Amino acid sequence: MTIPAQAKPAPASERDVLLKVDGLVKHFPIKKGLLQRQVAAVQAVDGISFDVRSGETLGVVGESGCGKSTMGRLITRLLEPTGGRVEFEGTDITHLGTAKMRPLRRDVQMIFQDPYSSLNPRHTIGTIVGAPFKLQGVNPEGGIKKTVQGMLERVGLSPEHYNRYPHEFSGGQRQRIGIARALALQPKLVVADEPVSALDVSIQAQVVNLLDDLQDELGLTYVIIAHDLSVIRHVSDRIAVMYLGKIVELADRKDLYTKPMHPYTKALLSAVPVPDPKRRGVKSERILLRGDVPSPIDPPKGCRFHTRCWKATEICAVKEPPFVALETAHQVACHHPENAPDQAPEDTKLLSVAREAIDVVSVTTAADVADAESADEGAPAKEPEAETTDATKD
Ligand SMILES: Nc1ncnc2c1ncn2[C@@H]1O[C@H](COP(=O)(O)OP(=O)(O)O)[C@@H](O)[C@H]1O
Ligand code: SF4
Ligand SMILES: [Mg+2]
Repeated sequence: MTIPAQAKPAPASERDVLLKVDGLVKHFPIKKGLLQRQVAAVQAVDGISFDVRSGETLGVVGESGCGKSTMGRLITRLLEPTGGRVEFEGTDITHLGTAKMRPLRRDVQMIFQDPYSSLNPRHTIGTIVGAPFKLQGVNPEGGIKKTVQGMLERVGLSPEHYNRYPHEFSGGQRQRIGIARALALQPKLVVADEPVSALDVSIQAQVVNLLDDLQDELGLTYVIIAHDLSVIRHVSDRIAVMYLGKIVELADRKDLYTKPMHPYTKALLSAVPVPDPKRRGVKSERILLRGDVPSPIDPPKGCRFHTRCWKATEICAVKEPPFVALETAHQVACHHPENAPDQAPEDTKLLSVAREAIDVVSVTTAADVADAESADEGAPAKEPEAETTDATKD
């Protein structure tokens, strides 16, 4: 198969693999009684495999409770995996203890969702952003203070903020402080767990754009977690979609948007409003998933999505679909994918749940409303968008 030549960045597959994850598992035991015997387990992450390539941004999306944060904490080794393997720059770090992880802490950093609770209120900004230098025993040229002040400027704050306290800053500014702290030691890999979800919508794009600019300046590799595709669609090179502890689809951003294969991805995509002005006035349908993500303590058998999938057939309830590449660099786990050959064509009998799994609503855009109003003066104005519940919100 020939792949069309690309002008700029080298094909991602040819770049170095920075992080390699193989069959990663995290089960949180549930214990009961005086003897604290384990009676069950929360299967938060249940066998996921992927690579993160040097210099790329891997977006990870899925509804709340799908295991995204647990995955982030496993690959930064803030949590110990129950099974599987994590390799950083070719070194197995799956079970490294605190002491052996210390040098690695410099290279792997995490940015957290909540900029209010992640900064110690009693410490000055200078102490917070300078802490990684002290912890690692790093003495930068020109001293810690000057380096920290330079970092504050880089993230859009002022060097004068050095002696101030977190409560003096807005949510967006606090997240910039969190970013300055994470990037202070020039790490190689940054895992950002819903870095803008707690922020006002009006400033979310600014902070995402800041991360994007810093990536180029500092040569960073990102894993950015989000529950909503709208936040990461512009900055991700590749996107992994998670559902109930599994990666169900992984593809280049463009492939994922233009030809999603997993029904869950399709539902997530159709929940994202289309900002393209050329498409205003085009009536489109949104797929709205009913219900919540099932409990990871006792996940559905077969394909975990079969209780909410409109394409679910008998095989889906009994056989877990393998996670395979159905096209070059486009992996999916589904018996009946969209935009790809049916993997179980003989199995055609829909499950009864499939018929009630989704609501398809017709979305009327603002342009339609304007047309309707000019055609029918005096008629009550329609709502520009159907009243919907956003399936991807948590
Ligand atoms: N420390 C923990 N102990 C027990 N269960 C946990 C723990 N952390 C997360 N979980 C559970 O694991 C599942 C996945 O959680 P999480 O990784 O936070 O998902 P997400 O970030 O996608 O919302 C959830 O059911 C959550 O309640
Ligand atoms: S068609 Fe079947 S295998 Fe594919 S997502 Fe739906 S339930 Fe899962
Ligand atoms: Mg989370």
